[in-house]
Amino acid sequence: MKFDVLTLFPEMFEPLKKSIIGKAEEKELIQIELINIRDFSKNKHKKVDDTPYGGGAGMVMQPDVVYDAYKAIKAQNAKVIYLTPQGKTLNQEKVEKLSKEEHLILLCGHYEGIDQRVIDEIVDEEISIGDYVLTGGEIPAMVLIDSVSRYVEGVLNEESKNEESFSQGLLEYPQYTRPEVFNDKKVPEILLSGHHENINKWRRCEALKNTYLKRPELLKNVELSEQDKKILEKIKKDVKCEEAPLT
Ligand code: ADE
Repeated sequence: MKFDVLTLFPEMFEPLKKSIIGKAEEKELIQIELINIRDFSKNKHKKVDDTPYGGGAGMVMQPDVVYDAYKAIKAQNAKVIYLTPQGKTLNQEKVEKLSKEEHLILLCGHYEGIDQRVIDEIVDEEISIGDYVLTGGEIPAMVLIDSVSRYVEGVLNEESKNEESFSQGLLEYPQYTRPEVFNDKKVPEILLSGHHENINKWRRCEALKNTYLKRPELLKNVELSEQDKKILEKIKKDVKCEEAPLT
């Protein structure tokens, strides 16, 4: 999968070269190309913005510079996404949908924004990462690349993917590792039992409980089995997951 990023601050993307996304790039599972919009300024001072027509605070990115940067990308079937608080809010369903695309062009705005004419000319979709305003589209673009890349074949190991499909739409169950006792707190006994079926039932119950207690609104988008519904009833009555799924 290819990501072309149109940005005034390519150096901000350095953190993406680390960890899982960095490895995915090394393995050529994904490609991240950073295009510095400033390189396309025809101005001798490499200016890319100007004051807004009609007055007002701040500067606006000029349409011709952004357009020339866009035209330099060899794009046949690419989808152009503009990261902006005005866009539809990104969620996991949208992330999964975007991962089916072969080529995404991400346009990062700065200052007061980008001249509307070039947005109208090249953008297919506007995406926000949440109802708050950041100083630019770079962090949102990184959020999008990171979340979408997780769905690209080979980026995550198979086991993580299986676990994710198991808990689809629910929050995660809690995880524990060595030591067995930490500050007098013991790892739940069931995880030491070696009984995989019971462990899976316990984890499903904990995921249901986490979701019910922390983000109950997510439950309406989850396909619940009859067993899940029974467990949820017990969770509501405060029954512990050590007991709820096993009775
Ligand atoms: N640019 C500034 N704030 C943003 C946000 N919340 N989402 C996407 N792009 C942005």
